Amino acid sequence: MNSESLLNIDDYHRAARARLPKDVLDYYEGGALDEITLRENTAGWERLKLYYHVLAGVGTRDLSTTILGQSISLPIGIAPMAFQKLACAAGEIATANAAKSVGTLFILSSFSNTAMESVLPQAASPRWFQLYVYKDRAITEELVHRAEAAGAEAIVVTADAPGLGTRERDMRNSFRLPDDLALENLVPLGKGNFPKVTGSALAAYVRENFKSDLKFEDLDWLCGCTRLPIIVKGVCRGDDARRAAEHGAKAVVVSNHGGRQLDTAPATCEALSAVAAAVGDLCEIYVDGGIRRGSDVLKAIALGARAVLLGRPILWGLCVGGAQGATDVLEILRRELDEAMLLCGCTELGDINRSLLAP
Ligand code: GLV
Repeated sequence: MNSESLLNIDDYHRAARARLPKDVLDYYEGGALDEITLRENTAGWERLKLYYHVLAGVGTRDLSTTILGQSISLPIGIAPMAFQKLACAAGEIATANAAKSVGTLFILSSFSNTAMESVLPQAASPRWFQLYVYKDRAITEELVHRAEAAGAEAIVVTADAPGLGTRERDMRNSFRLPDDLALENLVPLGKGNFPKVTGSALAAYVRENFKSDLKFEDLDWLCGCTRLPIIVKGVCRGDDARRAAEHGAKAVVVSNHGGRQLDTAPATCEALSAVAAAVGDLCEIYVDGGIRRGSDVLKAIALGARAVLLGRPILWGLCVGGAQGATDVLEILRRELDEAMLLCGCTELGDINRSLLAP
């Protein structure tokens, strides 16, 4: 496929599908169990309709905003995603470079194939680190302190994974990393490789290592062991979001882990308003899951998000064209959001509000 044919995120998805080995594609693309939440995440945004303003006098649009006080050129950051060297040889370094070239947020996954000490120092601000909480507190603490030393500016703790949602595609494919790839951040801690099992090796690793009784007290502990702001990722309810803020979270991410954890959890667009109502001004709110068009970003902001995080589309971009591919994906969404703002009558992100979804 030549680059002229790659007009939208679906084009990148199709192109990546044609290039990736089946087990990798299934891992990236798949969700938990029947993949109902996975499908609903995208369908939910599609179902929302935009009641646009006319004659609003919109000239040039301003897409810039701030997250936790840091400037970004558009309200679309890069979500933390595991194992990016499965998508392209430069892996997480390519993703960090894409974020830098468009001027947006980069979040490095605990499960990166490149060590944080190699990625974070050359990533631009804002650069955050996503944390999985291990049973062994010393491991968790070490990851946080190393991230801080490597230049991370916030810790994004994943709260929706006390265990791994069952991904039947990965079980069928016996998903594992090739021998030349590891969980590089965990190598110095003796946890850099999956166990040798049949079925999903990732699932076995998570069972062995993740803290399954994760609770709000762990959040208190985490807030106490770093000077960095903590963001809680994976909430779908207003009460939990508010409690997270009361326990020190500076932001929450409304997320169902891309439909990869609890199947039949609500689409994130359905969960977002209740979280926004419950949280008020206590903390910032971001959302991920199923964002495929610039109009989806506008809808997310209308429902109360400050910014969205983009996951799989970045992987499709990496697979098709490395850092440039991921950059192109973000630029497509920038253009689409800009057009949606023009056609909705919005000059800046602050003009986007709920009335666009229900007059
Ligand atoms: C890893 O973070 C996954 O959800 O697959």
